[in-house]
Amino acid sequence: MAKVAILVMIALQVLAGIHSEDLPKNYEYYAGDGIVSGLNADQRYFLLNGKNITIFSGAFHYFRVHKSSWRDRLRKMRAAGLNTVETYVAWNLHEYKSGVFDFGNGGSDFEEFLDIAEFLKIAQEEDLFALVRAGPYICSEWEFGGLPSWLLREEGIKLRTSDPVYLEYVSRYFSELVPILAKLQFTNGGPIIALQVENEYGNTGNSDPDYLHALKDLYISNGIKELLYTSDPASAGTRGALANELLMTANFNNDPSWNLNTLDSLQSNKPTMAMEYWSGWFDHVTEDHHTVDINTYKSVYEGILSHPASANIYMFVGSTNFGFTNGANSLYGGTDNSGLQPDTSSYDYDSPISESGEITDKWTATKELIEKYNPVKTALPELPETRERAVYDDIKIEQQILLSEIINEFPNKIESEKVVPMELLDINDGSGQSYGYIVYRKTNIDLKAGATLTIKGYVRDHVLILVDGELISPVLSSKSDLDKFGYWRLRDSSIELTKQDLLGATLDLVVENNARNNYGSLDQFQQFKGLTEDVLVDDQVVSNWQIVPLEFKKSWNQQLSGWHPIKTKDATPALYRVSFNVTDPKDTYVNVQDWNKGFVIINGLVLGRVFAVGPQQALYLPAGLLREGVNELIIFEHFSAPDVVKFSKDPIWGVGTNIH
Ligand SMILES: *[C@@H]1O[C@H](CO)[C@@H](O)[C@H](O)[C@H]1NC(C)=O
Ligand SMILES: *[C@@H]1O[C@H](CO)[C@@H](O)[C@H](O)[C@H]1NC(C)=O
Repeated sequence: MAKVAILVMIALQVLAGIHSEDLPKNYEYYAGDGIVSGLNADQRYFLLNGKNITIFSGAFHYFRVHKSSWRDRLRKMRAAGLNTVETYVAWNLHEYKSGVFDFGNGGSDFEEFLDIAEFLKIAQEEDLFALVRAGPYICSEWEFGGLPSWLLREEGIKLRTSDPVYLEYVSRYFSELVPILAKLQFTNGGPIIALQVENEYGNTGNSDPDYLHALKDLYISNGIKELLYTSDPASAGTRGALANELLMTANFNNDPSWNLNTLDSLQSNKPTMAMEYWSGWFDHVTEDHHTVDINTYKSVYEGILSHPASANIYMFVGSTNFGFTNGANSLYGGTDNSGLQPDTSSYDYDSPISESGEITDKWTATKELIEKYNPVKTALPELPETRERAVYDDIKIEQQILLSEIINEFPNKIESEKVVPMELLDINDGSGQSYGYIVYRKTNIDLKAGATLTIKGYVRDHVLILVDGELISPVLSSKSDLDKFGYWRLRDSSIELTKQDLLGATLDLVVENNARNNYGSLDQFQQFKGLTEDVLVDDQVVSNWQIVPLEFKKSWNQQLSGWHPIKTKDATPALYRVSFNVTDPKDTYVNVQDWNKGFVIINGLVLGRVFAVGPQQALYLPAGLLREGVNELIIFEHFSAPDVVKFSKDPIWGVGTNIH
């Protein structure tokens, strides 16, 4: 009887999916007897080191999660039964100035997000294999699809093509990045089982197989031996592929049989894999927050696994576009900026693991389906507890600096006959300005009553107009204001500057870069930020400007001086500062419902954007960006500020209280 009872217990445990100490770890199962071969796709199924494998992968972008949370998220992935983590690599963070690199200790603002080797080592420690999609273009709703803005300084550069000027920069970057990855390949004892060449290249309309060949060669010449692949929507056919050379994979979120059968028809002798199975979706500003319901999520995932196929769930780990790193779509492309659709700072994506690291019902559904479809049983870790989040007390705001004061005091203003976009400024050792705001100041200008300012072309992307330090452009109060003066949608826009004659006035055009397009062929000209065409007052072209790059870099933010008590909070662009004490740093959200447009800085680092048109009204603030003791929080507000800074335990979706 006892023996039977034990057998029944074991059988029940197996049926219930309870992991047993006896099960091998993933690496023990696939590599325990030594490594002979990497991922092999020479038949209808994958083999890893000679053993059958279905890749159960989840997307997690290390550069969107503070490093102090990497292990937590990776363990939660493995606890769901995934055997692989997939990440993109963000060129624009790693080579933040032309020829200057940061892979975790390079001194850039994002240093604490950039140690990709450490991330991959932790993934291996957490018993996960890795897929690396190093682009160099990554789309990903990430600023400029991951390309550094300083590429735009090369006149006539043809991005994402075999243009030798572009390829020279890719080659220099890959010669720094790829050797780091090469050491971490599976057959070298590391986690990386495959790498992706380019990304949805079939969506560009650039038919340039030489480019894909050049990238493939750069991977190989820098030491890559593992499998290389491409990924595209199945409807793109082989346009983005090197058919018969690189494995093709498909990206979609519905109709798995059509998508995977189409992929199989393009490539009948290879394994089938969804490289991006979209678990949710991202948000453009002004939209409602996107979600995908659990039943749809489950049935499409099951459709993929039963095909049978491998899949990378994109995203598995929700995350954040910290700083100014959110991307945008551009509906019309070319020089037309009117169809710009900036993304929010949150990249929660309605993922199985939320932006703040919480397990959702999609996580549970994923675990159940992997148990059902993975014949290889391995030991899984306990699910780590979700960390408690704090709601810090409201803080009354008592310190302010007006934007006009910052402009006045900015040293070394750049003299320029014409207005030029930020990328072409001669700063940052010849790399120009990438992010933030650019101010075009005209001093000592005589303005007649009713004088009209005209900005030719498009504002890229939002402009505040100050006359003698006073804001004269309208305060944002509805979504439809984005169709009016001050935003990216209008071509050749005009505004009245003054109702009375002004002698020797100071005119400031403060232009905010809201995001570069991350999708499609990425025409060069479309991507410039600031002003690109003439500025007129009463039909006269204005020349001889002073230009002020406001990059809001960490070291500069930390040294800001001139804080004073609040002078006015209404219709005036200004920075507001508060301090708060923390004993045991915990994750929280900064509640920005009562703010209008601008961004938040925590301990010097730009945390993310505020935009009352929605849908994001709370910014995730991970404990890793707080410290024990005094923390400093600054909010830059374009229009009107509330009296207090508030926090929130949870995300808040909708429009801000200033939108009517
Ligand atoms: C791997 O799976 C295929 C298809 O199910 C099967 O034909 C093959 O024998 C398996 N190979 C090994 C090494 O188990
Ligand atoms: C933070 O704590 C320190 C030491 O207890 C105290 O001197 C300081 O006033 C506190 N600051 C704030 C902003 O509460």
